[in-house]
Amino acid sequence: MVPLKRRKVVPPHTGNTGTGCSEEKASIKFPRVVLFLVERKMGASRRTFLSQLGRRKGFQVEELFSQSVTHVVSENNCGDEVRKWLDSQLRAQDQKPVHLLDISWYTESMRAGHPVEILERHRLQVHFQNDEAKAVVFSVPSYACQRRTTLDNHNTILTDALSLLAEKAELSEEDGRGVAFRRAAAVLKCLPQPVTNMMQLRGLPCLGEHSFRVIKDILENGTSSEVESTQQSERYKALKVLTGIFGVGAKTADRWIRAGIHNLRQLQTSGQTLNQAQRAGLQHYDDLNLPVTKAEADAIGEIVEEAVVSVLPDAQITLIGGFRRGKLTGHDVDLLITHPDEGKEVGLMPKVVSWLQSKGFLLYQKTTINSYLESEEGPRRPSSNMDRFERCFSIFKLQKKVEAAQPETQAENGIQHHKSGCRLWRAVRVDLVVSPISQFAFALLGWTGSKLFERELRRWAGHEKAMSLGSHALYDNRQSRYLRATSEEEIFAHLGLEYIPPSERNA
Ligand code: UTP
Ligand code: MN
Repeated sequence: MVPLKRRKVVPPHTGNTGTGCSEEKASIKFPRVVLFLVERKMGASRRTFLSQLGRRKGFQVEELFSQSVTHVVSENNCGDEVRKWLDSQLRAQDQKPVHLLDISWYTESMRAGHPVEILERHRLQVHFQNDEAKAVVFSVPSYACQRRTTLDNHNTILTDALSLLAEKAELSEEDGRGVAFRRAAAVLKCLPQPVTNMMQLRGLPCLGEHSFRVIKDILENGTSSEVESTQQSERYKALKVLTGIFGVGAKTADRWIRAGIHNLRQLQTSGQTLNQAQRAGLQHYDDLNLPVTKAEADAIGEIVEEAVVSVLPDAQITLIGGFRRGKLTGHDVDLLITHPDEGKEVGLMPKVVSWLQSKGFLLYQKTTINSYLESEEGPRRPSSNMDRFERCFSIFKLQKKVEAAQPETQAENGIQHHKSGCRLWRAVRVDLVVSPISQFAFALLGWTGSKLFERELRRWAGHEKAMSLGSHALYDNRQSRYLRATSEEEIFAHLGLEYIPPSERNA
């Protein structure tokens, strides 16, 4: 969909504006509003009279219908008739969203001297659904885990805007608001085609008043003023730059901003004490803010696999996170490690880390031990015991693919350096998780994402099934027992959900 703002606006009184008599030449006061009056039932002479009246008041009233028209006004026609007429004028693929309005909107605007706000009573109701015109009213289930969301998003302009507002809320620690925007974006992500008209959104779940306003703004003006002002805001820019440092969250960034720190240079000269993770994050800032490609993720997978099997031969490793959902890039590489014999995986992580360190693959690492224990009474809170795995947050030193013929490289600690000093490696964030085989299916499901899909699975489990789902286990509160599973399919079945494969969990 081309936003209205960016459409070519036909200059007034040239070419197809036809009747522009010299005495009515008034300059266009409202360039974003391009009107067309439907002659059917209105009659030619009344149409001419109303058109001239509009032009005198600075409105752009077109003689012929075209793609540049934004508002279609008719008298005594029902919405279906007007829709049908429009469909006969332009091929479906050439159609742009237009307002179908009753003459009352036009006369009120004439009286006001400007386009008045479009109210529900001004709109013509369209009931029939014409496949060619794609006047589809969408309908989707309300939990993201009931929907199939591929990476094929037909509404990126809208979802990018809502995601930015979600991010802004999260960076301001307004989590509830953040989730609301994430949910709204997720609903639009699963629609089979672009939204062109607010009417199509009727009946969709999770779209609050605020999200509606943002969508409406974009459909009508091509952009959202709230998104634009956020992007320009100094605070938002500073929060983005500072939380772009590995190890820095919203709280720390906020504290620094209040101390007058808005960028990396100010941080470096501020004398603020940084922890080890943050120092590493600052040192590798550019690399870590560069997307990781699937090829790089695979290369890291191979290195970790070599490390894992050399310390525990039958251990298995699985690529999880966004790459498992089919994403082509990500912000990190997530890998899940397990062993077919329960218990064999205990203590594996430190050995893997030592191996990687001895080969010079790690620029930074922090390992946590597994602190998960099932208790007789079940998990204490639904969200407790979520991330209690043996886990390693790390920054890898990944050798870049060297062109076959590139000369003058030498091996040093298994890492290539170019003699001329040109860097042949990049830093990549890698998240390693070890799971006992009994929890593997839950870990796999919990770490494949997307984050919103996971959140919705847990919400579904809690609200609809009285169950507690985590990355370690599923607990049935009514039966007071843990439900076992050896595959993701079994977990979906326990939850009474249709199985959704990873590639369709991109909510
Ligand atoms: P990521 O943050 O890596 O997201 O978490 P992603 O989908 O892979 O996105 P990119 O491509 O890297 O940007 C991956 C999954 O791991 C879970 C999250 O819920 C997400 O589903 N996770 C992450 C946890 O359960 N706990 C954590 O502490 C971190
Ligand atoms: Mn990831």
